[in-house]
Amino acid sequence: MTAVRGRLLSFRRAPVEPGDTSSYDHIPDGLLLIADGRIAAVGAYADLKDRVPAGVTVAHHPDGLILPGFIDTHIHFPQTQVIASYGAQLLDWLETYTFIEEQKYADPDHAAAGAAFFLDELLRNGTTTAVAYGSVHPQSVEALFTEAERRGAGLIAGKVMMDRHAPAALTDTAERGYADSKALIDRWHRHGRQRYAVTPRFAITSTEAQLAAAGTLLREHPGVHMQTHLSENHDEIATVRRLFPTARDYTDVYDRFGLLGPTSLFGHCIHLSEAEMTRLSESGSVAVFCPTSNLFIGSGLFDRAALSNPARPVRHALATDVGGGTSYSMLRTAGEAYKVLQLRGQNLPALAAFDLMTRGNAEALGMADEIGVLEPGRWADLVVLESRATPAMRHRMMTIDGDLEEELFVLMTLGDDRAVTHTYLRGEPAHRRDAEG
Ligand code: GUN
Ligand code: ZN
Repeated sequence: MTAVRGRLLSFRRAPVEPGDTSSYDHIPDGLLLIADGRIAAVGAYADLKDRVPAGVTVAHHPDGLILPGFIDTHIHFPQTQVIASYGAQLLDWLETYTFIEEQKYADPDHAAAGAAFFLDELLRNGTTTAVAYGSVHPQSVEALFTEAERRGAGLIAGKVMMDRHAPAALTDTAERGYADSKALIDRWHRHGRQRYAVTPRFAITSTEAQLAAAGTLLREHPGVHMQTHLSENHDEIATVRRLFPTARDYTDVYDRFGLLGPTSLFGHCIHLSEAEMTRLSESGSVAVFCPTSNLFIGSGLFDRAALSNPARPVRHALATDVGGGTSYSMLRTAGEAYKVLQLRGQNLPALAAFDLMTRGNAEALGMADEIGVLEPGRWADLVVLESRATPAMRHRMMTIDGDLEEELFVLMTLGDDRAVTHTYLRGEPAHRRDAEG
């Protein structure tokens, strides 16, 4: 058994508005008891301290705010050296930078080194679960799952399927993409904490035969996820229209091949029609909001209010989309999400943002019974935040007298990896900020 003490924050449901105090549990001096990597008990330190077995040292974070580890629902593992590439919008950005860099992941040594960096970077940002795209090469995903398993992290990942409109070194075929994906599913899906996501990159780089193969994989393996991109950029949408002239719209391209559903994650979803939002809603599909990427690549502004229309609500999640995105930090991502929604005349209350980064994203993955909340039975994946991590944060916090929502808003507006003091996987330390050289 291990034990972690500090201020605990965990959400019960999506907050409906600022001040929705019944949406979360906040325990000023709390204790988590952890057995076999899972939370065994959670409560006030005073109530639980007698249950700490003799010989177990309590990891105490007197100034720390402890939350479930952050969940990033859309990130590209082979793009750690694409991030911060200058001056292009989506289709040029893919050709100029991304399709060059991803070719390096044919080399298992490059992939293994990349996987170690990737996991380090997630953990130093407090992200304990990520939904990741590999490259087209199955060995990229093999390297990523191997590294995640070694560290005790649970990832959802898939090899990209791409059989046209990309360099020959980056394409598979419908048959090969199917067979390679199937072999990875057999080897890694529900192997320990790992989960597989069938990953047709987007409609432009897959033939109808390949999209059909992706649909077959989903039908043959109930419970695997599906991830792709949808309606990110106007040139992309026009190209999809040309390539699939009989489809009603972009969403319908995926719908025809059985790719919509409650385990399907659609990155971006910026320029959707009413009909498309209705189909996403009916099918229980998830729209993934990637604010730093949408700003950086100049794609557009996610319309959270339209997607949330109670007449046809679309489930949604929050993600970094590195390397189109510009930060591995979910705190920075939430801060930029706030700004994107401001430009739409909308809002992102701090409670909603922190719910999304934890419980909300877990629910979008259908995994809220595993991660994202501090409740018995869940994996003890934790992030410890320091609200006074930088001079600017300390200075701002001087004006805040114990108001949790104001503190959370400072964290998401000014915070980043510097505000993450510790990360735990399965109750074991996986990152300590002050140990970094
Ligand atoms: N659409 C197809 N591939 C990609 C990608 O790698 N990044 C982003 N942002 N959009 C895409
Ligand atoms: Zn992406």
